Order: sequence, then C-alpha cells, then structure tokens
Amino acid sequence: MQSFSRQHIQQHFNHAAPSYDDAAILQKTVAERIDERLELTTIEPKIILDLGAGTGLLTEKVIQRYPDAQLFAVDLSESMLKMASERLYTSRWPNLPTKLNGFLQQCTLTKKMAKRKTATAINADVYQLPFADNSVDLIVSNLMLQWCDDLDSVFAEFRRVLRTEGLIMFTTFGPDTLKELRQAWQSADANYEHVNTFIDMHDIGDALIRNGFGQPVMDMEIFTLTYDKPIGVLKDLKAIGATNANKQRNNGLMGKQLFASMLNAYEAIRNPVDNKIPATYEVVHGHAWAAQEIIKGPNRDKSGHIEISLDEFSAQLKR
Ligand SMILES: C[S@@+](CC[C@H](N)C(=O)[O-])C[C@H]1O[C@@H](n2cnc3c(N)ncnc32)[C@H](O)[C@@H]1O
Repeated sequence: MQSFSRQHIQQHFNHAAPSYDDAAILQKTVAERIDERLELTTIEPKIILDLGAGTGLLTEKVIQRYPDAQLFAVDLSESMLKMASERLYTSRWPNLPTKLNGFLQQCTLTKKMAKRKTATAINADVYQLPFADNSVDLIVSNLMLQWCDDLDSVFAEFRRVLRTEGLIMFTTFGPDTLKELRQAWQSADANYEHVNTFIDMHDIGDALIRNGFGQPVMDMEIFTLTYDKPIGVLKDLKAIGATNANKQRNNGLMGKQLFASMLNAYEAIRNPVDNKIPATYEVVHGHAWAAQEIIKGPNRDKSGHIEISLDEFSAQLKR
C-alpha cells in the first residue's frame, strides 16, 4: 500500500485549482452519476457533507437536490475551495432585470449583497472532521477517497460524524485506472511506481464493514478517455492535480530519456481501430448506511459482500 503526503496533495490541488474545471470532464460525469443515484433514495437530509468537494462540482448538484439542507463543502486545498465558494454563491434575486443586476454588480457593497451562499466551504482534512458525533445525515464524496491511504481511519471518522442510519455515497478509482500509463512506465522504468495504485472495491467494502457501516453496495464502471498523443494524458492529469503524491516518489529530476522512453511505450498502446491513445478509468461507486451494529443479510457472502440485482439495488436506496 502506498503512503501519501497530505502536504503534497494539498499543494498539487492548490496549484491545479485554476485549470481543474476545464480538464475535469470525467469528474463532472461521475458527479452526475452520484446525483442520479441520490434520485433513487427517499432520504431527506438536513445536514450534508461533501468531502473532498474540490471546486464544488458535486456540491452544486447536491444543494439543488436538497435546497433546504445545510451543506458543507470540505477540502484540504484552500484554492480548490475558493473556486467552490465562487460557484456556490448564487443570486439573491434571480429574477432581477439584467440592467438592474448589472448596476448592482458595479458596486462592491451591493455586489456582495446581491449574492447568497448556498453551502459553507470548510478547509479541513477528512481524517479529522470539525463536526460533532452523530450530527450528519448524508455524506457524499466524488473521487476523493483514492487520495486516502488509510481507509480504516477515514471511514471511522465518517462513521463518527454520521448519525445512525445516515447514508454515505461515494466514488473512487479502482485498480484498472490508468493501466496504460502504468504499463508504459513499467516498460520504461520497472524500478519505481510512477503511477498511483488504487484499491479494489471489495477491500473498500470490507473497510466499510470494519468501521460500522451496514449493507455496503459496491459496483464499478469503466470509462476510456481518448487522446491524440500520450502527452495529452499527462497534461490532463496535471491540470486536475492528479500527479504522483506517493511519499516514496522520486524527488530527483526525471531523466528526459526515461520520460521519452515512457512516451514511446505508451505510443505502442495506440488503439488501431480509432487511432487514439486510450486512458482507462475504473470508477468505483459505493454506498452504505451507518449501522448501530453490522447487519448480516441473507445474500451476504462470508466476507460481508452483497451480490444484488439492479432492482434490489434501487429498492435498497429507497428505504
Ligand atoms: C479529484 S478532486 C475531486 C473534487 C470534487 N469532489 C469533484 O468532483 O470535482 C479530489 C479532491 O479531494 C481533496 N482531498 C484529497 N485528500 C483530502 C483530505 N485528506 N481531506 C480533504 N480533502 C482532500 C483534494 O484537495 C481535491 O480537491
């Protein structure tokens, strides 16, 4: 298991904040998927946390779905949260005539007054949430957990703040994510792990159960983004802050030759059908309920995993 430096994660995302939204095509799509799954539930949360909220892509959707709830967007990176705060301010008087709105925007004081906050941005680490025990009804998190190298500690913290029967719904990346880039680096430099590795969804399900969550349901979907050149994959990863945060990462300058050799190896993976460079993302979806104690269902296997049909899956979310 790799070990991450949170300081590096924070720095990477602070740096990436201005370019994040333009490059975060996959993150936007996956945020929509979470929102679609929330549609299937009948919960009426009053207090919601979006953990690793970034620039607020998911926060914005969740607040539209639950406009009466109090929503907190939590993130380690101040710069990502600054972007989120801008997104999460909305017009106090959405039906004002454009001319009057334009006039209000000219003056600093009225410009501020004309907007209202829909969520509160909190600069904090998800390992130590500044919320009381049993105070939260719903936790959502889009593509943040892959940055947590100690799932037991974060899930225990999520369970602490969630009230019993509260829901956690999240996405993260699975092991096949960036398999082409990993393969290309392996052929260029087998001595070092240049690409972050990702945890299998069964292990995530196990960690949920160990930390007081009941009935975890995990599934995954594969997205393949395509590029004209291998360098495009790396540029996108940099733009969204997803560079290697491994504590053991090579701090020396990476040789130009090594990098070129990795690009050549990636080029060899070009798909002859569409003549494009593929980048695979295995997106893992999970949800679970904060349990008083672990409930053993009849269709659960001995590791605690549930195999269910899509109909059962929707029925479970409606409880
Ligand atoms: C890939 S971005 C996803 C952002 C957002 N959820 C979205 O859908 O666009 C991951 C975010 O998780 C945040 N993050 C990573 N580790 C964190 C931690 N330990 N505590 C709080 N935020 C963290 C990063 O700062 C970054 O903004």
